[in-house]
Amino acid sequence: MTAQRIPLSQLERGTPFEHRHIGPDQEARAKMLAQVGYGSLDELTAAAVPEVIKSADDLDLPGARTEAEVLDELRALAGRNQVLTSMIGLGYYGTFTPPVVLRNVLENPAWYTAYTPYQPEISQGRLEALLNFQTMVADLTGLPTSGASLLDEGTAAAEAMALSRRVGKNKKGLFLVDADTLPQTVAVVRTRAEPTGVEVVVADLGDGIPAEIAEREINGVLLQYPGASGAVRDLKPVIDQAHELGAVVTVAADLLALTLLKSPGELGADIAVGTTQRFGVPMGFGGPHAGYMAVREEFTRNLPGRLVGVSVDADGAKAYRLALQTREQHIRRERATSNICTAQVLLAVMAGMYAVYHGPDGLKDIARRTHRYAAILAAGLRSGGVEIVHDAFFDTVTARVPGRAAEVVAAARDKGVNLHLVDADHVLVACDETTRRAHLQAVWAAFGTEGDIDALDASTEDALPATLERTDAYLTHPVFHQHRSETAMLRYLRRLADRDYALDRGMIPLGSCTMKLNATTEMEPVTWPEFGQLHPFAPAEQAEGYLTLIRELEDRLAEVTGYDKVSLQPNAGSQGELAGLLAVRGYHRANGDEQRTVCLIPSSAHGTNAASAVMAGMKVVVVKTAENGEIDVEDLRAKIDKHRDELAVLMITYPSTHGVFEEHVADICAQVHEAGGQVYVDGANLNALVGLAKPGHFGGDVSHLNLHKTFCIPHGGGGPGVGPVAVRAHLAPYLPNHPLQPSAGPATGVGPVSAAPWGSAGILPISWAYMRLMGGEGLKRATQVAVLSANYIAKRLEPHYPVLYTGPGGLVAHECIIDLRPLTKATGVTVDDVAKRLIDYGFHAPTMSFPVAGTLMIEPTESEDLAELDRFCDAMIAIRAEIDKVGAGEWPADDNPLRNAPHTAGSLAGTWEHPYTREEAAFPGGVQAADKYWPPVRRIDQAFGDRNLVCSCPPPDAYED
Ligand SMILES: Cc1ncc(COP(=O)(O)O)c(C=O)c1O
Repeated sequence: MTAQRIPLSQLERGTPFEHRHIGPDQEARAKMLAQVGYGSLDELTAAAVPEVIKSADDLDLPGARTEAEVLDELRALAGRNQVLTSMIGLGYYGTFTPPVVLRNVLENPAWYTAYTPYQPEISQGRLEALLNFQTMVADLTGLPTSGASLLDEGTAAAEAMALSRRVGKNKKGLFLVDADTLPQTVAVVRTRAEPTGVEVVVADLGDGIPAEIAEREINGVLLQYPGASGAVRDLKPVIDQAHELGAVVTVAADLLALTLLKSPGELGADIAVGTTQRFGVPMGFGGPHAGYMAVREEFTRNLPGRLVGVSVDADGAKAYRLALQTREQHIRRERATSNICTAQVLLAVMAGMYAVYHGPDGLKDIARRTHRYAAILAAGLRSGGVEIVHDAFFDTVTARVPGRAAEVVAAARDKGVNLHLVDADHVLVACDETTRRAHLQAVWAAFGTEGDIDALDASTEDALPATLERTDAYLTHPVFHQHRSETAMLRYLRRLADRDYALDRGMIPLGSCTMKLNATTEMEPVTWPEFGQLHPFAPAEQAEGYLTLIRELEDRLAEVTGYDKVSLQPNAGSQGELAGLLAVRGYHRANGDEQRTVCLIPSSAHGTNAASAVMAGMKVVVVKTAENGEIDVEDLRAKIDKHRDELAVLMITYPSTHGVFEEHVADICAQVHEAGGQVYVDGANLNALVGLAKPGHFGGDVSHLNLHKTFCIPHGGGGPGVGPVAVRAHLAPYLPNHPLQPSAGPATGVGPVSAAPWGSAGILPISWAYMRLMGGEGLKRATQVAVLSANYIAKRLEPHYPVLYTGPGGLVAHECIIDLRPLTKATGVTVDDVAKRLIDYGFHAPTMSFPVAGTLMIEPTESEDLAELDRFCDAMIAIRAEIDKVGAGEWPADDNPLRNAPHTAGSLAGTWEHPYTREEAAFPGGVQAADKYWPPVRRIDQAFGDRNLVCSCPPPDAYED
């Protein structure tokens, strides 16, 4: 018998997940606490978090479960989703994700744990993948410039409306939408138009723009191609007519159809938008998928979202980076014309790789097969006496069955197929890449008819108009031809992933971004068919598992934040901001306070705040920041007084973007309330609050959260994100809703802010699993360790770099800003030099120059263990010694390891004429040769790339040098 028998109940608990998620163990925490000068985590956070905001109670959440238990629970939820064959269409289609892409992109942490490519030298792999995406979209739409993805088709159309406003001649004109546009797109466009005063008119443009509308001033026109009903029409006449009237024309186009049909560019469109979902990205009950936008050349500089461009590095070698970053919303702030920040990079990479793997011929084959099925389906229905509404269609057939539509849809459902009920007399049936013969037989049977597929195939012509046949070549670039075998594809994906630095290599200490663990258990359900294959408009009774998970996640997020109601619809933080501000707007208007349109925003706020306010029809008034980094309370009071009658809302980030817990936050909230305003607390920094304080209790009326920060959804190289909006009860009637899914929001809601009822539902299991695995106590401990780690770094670095701002007890919150400006002044070494030198040491740089220029903002998160925290601090301290050498004149200011960083393997070969050694260049401060991460390019010339803008794959000869 053993001396210490451990009870079975304890053994059954195994290793708590908390120990996997939180990096520093007990021993490490003790060491870190000693460095910071506190005896326990509770003591530390008691000192750091201001008394007035502290939560009195523990989180009321279910206790932690093991990974095995949580996977079982998720399987049970998945089992309550019914996966029928979807022939619903409406912008979401079955697709076959090539397994080589599924495993090596979607399930590969080298791709999904990467950050937005703001440090381009260590992001060349995903930048090339995004350039493929841009090239694919540009080629298929026939428009020269495509961005690197938008959030979904509906919001892309709304962005096109805003772009038309900016570039169009008829600035004040209406926005005209064809009646055959996807209903969710029309609804999102309406939500976004209303606060900015744009009039949306929906009309049947099948025979051109009706005379009574043509008489009015038209700013922009939106057409769907093929139409929502499936109809394929020649859009050229209406595009020409719109142009004659001075309107900007957007075509929302299906990329698979464009492999066979004349492109929007050839038809004369100015802008094309859409989704790339059916290019290998599972439907996921609505998302995430990459939306796209492509434009004519003259609109390039007005494109919303991110744009990848080609430039050169310090050696003149080709290198990719985000182009035109000066246009980005975080720089333009209240002058911004879009609030897009996080996009859908991971899904854009998948869609681009789908095109790389299939090539133009493979895509065309898929399109032809899809079309053939639709043509045969229609022929079979016709021969059974069913009327087909349109003669020309691509993949979608609308059948007229007077009074019988519901019965047909129900009969199809009994046979395992979901169709779309248009109205009492019409049924819509959409074919896709996954359609098979058996599906046609099932649909025919539901209509009460049958057919011989081979006979119908032999006797049925294609249903695409000959005049619209696509004749130009597309996807001609070698990248779309070289990776046809799985071996070649596998190696291409590996080659690109190897160029990048993601969390699977080391720490990414990005302030404001919370690059914490994205655990494998959390990720697993995302690719299960029961979560992946559901259409967002599938009947609710088929989505019981999803709806339960959604309800539980909403309730648990409400508990964590102290709010009453949560909507998971917004599919990025920016969209959560917009939804939250629209709720504030709705509330004021319902109270008869239409004049309340002023939004106070501190000067240190994230750029999306101001951009979202403008999109919500508000006027931004900036509040100053005081010397100590906190809101300038005097200035705030003065601005509240000045705008008392028009004050709509104060938007603050808490803890502030300066990484400190401001002590007077509760006072500030009270002042705003007293003046009749609402308080918006940007929840991007919630990683410092969970379990310690609740924004809904210390004064917030509304917050958005970033599930892709605090709640473990991976950043995916710059998306997907989820930005739920959480509100107190009085704002709940103004949350988003959805025209096709009444249970997705209140009937009194402001309309949808995303195309799908629950936004990016497919990745919600990640956050659900995280909360279930951690339990309330584990979540609180994660916060405490995040605060400890940030303070540990601040304390270790303080003797070498001044920490810019601290709060109570001289402590920081979950991140700290170190100030490089005095060193830059004394030595000429810049924040860029330090960031790039960190690459030589094997790190991703912290956030650069946000919110204060010339500084680095470091957020280690709770997931990094002490060894990694120390490796980072040691590197920063060694870099400080290097800066001193430059300051002392030992190394010239223009030729030193900092200025020349990062060093590639190639740069070490050949002659070496620098005043430091190759070892000092590539293996500084204990970097092991065997473990070295080699950046693929040297420092990139940003200005060159913007002057010589190239935003699609460069011709093959550019690859030769
Ligand atoms: C403070 C803050 N607010 C809002 C946002 C916007 O979130 P998203 O990028 O998901 O749109 C960010 C994003 O980094 C942020 O840091």
